[in-house]
Amino acid sequence: MLIIGNWKLNGRKENIKNFFVKLNNLCERFNIKNDISISPPTIYLNKSYNVLKNINNSRISLTAQNIDINLSGPFTGETSVEMLKDFNVKYIIVGHSERRIHHNENNEIVSKKFYLVKKNNFIPILCVGESKRKKIEEAKKNIKKQIDVILKYCGKYSFRNSIIAYEPIWAIGSGFSADPDYVNDIHFFIKNYISKEDIFFKKNNLIIQYGGSVSEKNVQDFLSKKYIDGILVGGCSLLVETFFPIIKKSDAI
Ligand code: PGA
Repeated sequence: MLIIGNWKLNGRKENIKNFFVKLNNLCERFNIKNDISISPPTIYLNKSYNVLKNINNSRISLTAQNIDINLSGPFTGETSVEMLKDFNVKYIIVGHSERRIHHNENNEIVSKKFYLVKKNNFIPILCVGESKRKKIEEAKKNIKKQIDVILKYCGKYSFRNSIIAYEPIWAIGSGFSADPDYVNDIHFFIKNYISKEDIFFKKNNLIIQYGGSVSEKNVQDFLSKKYIDGILVGGCSLLVETFFPIIKKSDAI
């Protein structure tokens, strides 16, 4: 299972070493088997990379929160996918709802980013999800649209070696997570839909994470469902004290 902590616009340089050392020690002590990754703000990737490099056999990888659609040039304030190669980044989040909402990232921009991530041999985590609580059929229609754009722009094999994070926007940071059965149904729908497009695709190989107010209290309700293969954690990933209990519980499933 894939457990990612997305720090968003949080964290301070002086806390990074302590965070990774403490988290890694706990993962070792409890022999954690799941795949653990942290997504710090871009400016802290370098520091995180250096700390992890000095931990013997670190169990934690790095995820980037965003890239630009350009590789280099006059694009002030942006980060190129190629630059991320210097920091041993494994996953790159694409189309998080906070980027779609606050930075006007439409489906076309998201597709361009997804394409660049794949082309540069990183693993994309494509975030999809409906903005308001809806009937499940409507939510599926919305997600289908978000996936179709990627299939159209990047081809029908796009989701091989890719990850999807289903994050209903109303559940993010709200303290109200979605119903695990509802999420399971959505994940099943996505897996089926993509394997219909790409007939050689083994639907069990597609990792779909759930994100939206995941905590120590509800993580097992999600991960015990058949089609929920991981979680994307925001708020509770900021402190080892709130993140590790989630990791430990997810490992017990
Ligand atoms: P949250 O964020 O856990 O704080 O709800 C999840 C996310 O945005 O990925």
